[in-house]
Amino acid sequence: MPLSTSTETGVPIQGPTATLLYDDWYPALRADTLRKGKLATAMLLDLPLALGRREDGRVFAMRDSCPHRGIPLSYGWFDGQRVTCRYHGWEFEPCSGQCALIPSLTGHDRIDATRIYATAFPCEERDGYAWVYIPSPGSGRKDGSAERRRPVPELARFGPRYHTAHLAAGLPCNVDHGIIGLMDPAHGPFVHQAWWWRSRASIREKTKRFEPISEGFRMSSHAPSANSAPYKLLGVYGQPVETTIDFVLPNRRTEIIRCGDKWFSSLTTVTPVTGSTCRIDVVAAWNVFYHVPLVTPIAKFFGAKFVRQDQVTMIQQAEGLRHNPSLMLIDDADKPAKWYFALKQARLEAAATGAQPKHPMDGPVELHWRS
Ligand code: FES
Ligand SMILES: [Fe+2]
Repeated sequence: MPLSTSTETGVPIQGPTATLLYDDWYPALRADTLRKGKLATAMLLDLPLALGRREDGRVFAMRDSCPHRGIPLSYGWFDGQRVTCRYHGWEFEPCSGQCALIPSLTGHDRIDATRIYATAFPCEERDGYAWVYIPSPGSGRKDGSAERRRPVPELARFGPRYHTAHLAAGLPCNVDHGIIGLMDPAHGPFVHQAWWWRSRASIREKTKRFEPISEGFRMSSHAPSANSAPYKLLGVYGQPVETTIDFVLPNRRTEIIRCGDKWFSSLTTVTPVTGSTCRIDVVAAWNVFYHVPLVTPIAKFFGAKFVRQDQVTMIQQAEGLRHNPSLMLIDDADKPAKWYFALKQARLEAAATGAQPKHPMDGPVELHWRS
């Protein structure tokens, strides 16, 4: 799916920027694009990255900038062990960023190359993504702080046998709009109209219970909406269907559907590429309809259609946002969006003061809307 960040006339769409949350993990790219001996590039939180896979299989992410004169390291060479800058040939160990060689040095020089570091970020492979930990600007090298890092996000699985799929879509709006679009319950009947999902006419009043969880909130376990077709399919198992949806900072929505020993699990993230653009990634695993042929291509087809509907809407929204309109959040349908902004604010304040972040919810809440 192409990332559309310009209108048909080629005018770049660029709306307002969002404040970014650092000190957390973000998916940079699919790890299978990292081949031994090759460098790939990605942009995360306005940071250009050079990523690769060492000969021993370990993935790495460096700032795509040589500490000597700033040329992107991705223009250089990578032999599976060291990244070599194409300008003066400095060599770096890519996981630590440590400089291993400065070819121009002679016996007359006193400089110790190994005391020089290119910026390398913690990088871990999970669920097929290379996740990169982006510390706050100016917080120094990664060493020594591994215990203080939040854990690498991971898709929940409930058994050893499952199908899996993933998809991605670029959004030309900032991460806040991407996230509140993701948690917005009221757009469903309008944006996701389809015979196989739901129609505008199927709109009905819903009551959902939410509870606070650490740095997020949970739509408490409930029987899914009677007006969505995929859930109806689960009726074939003749077991009660329960679904739980969590949102957790900085950008994660997890949805778990369980029906006896059958399950579906997804992790959706909205990652800031720059201050004003983002990308949505969805990875899912399931054992429902495990033996039905073609279930993975069918799920991918419908999943991609669904995300494409959101993407098209946000491309249109970005056109409007370019002109900095004033916006509204209304009760109750926009309450999750309000919680998101409050949680984010609380994290930013806590990062500045060192205090515990204050949760915007006092306890469980019931929200009502029509969708
Ligand atoms: S700019 Fe990279 S070695 Fe000089
Ligand atoms: Fe949507």
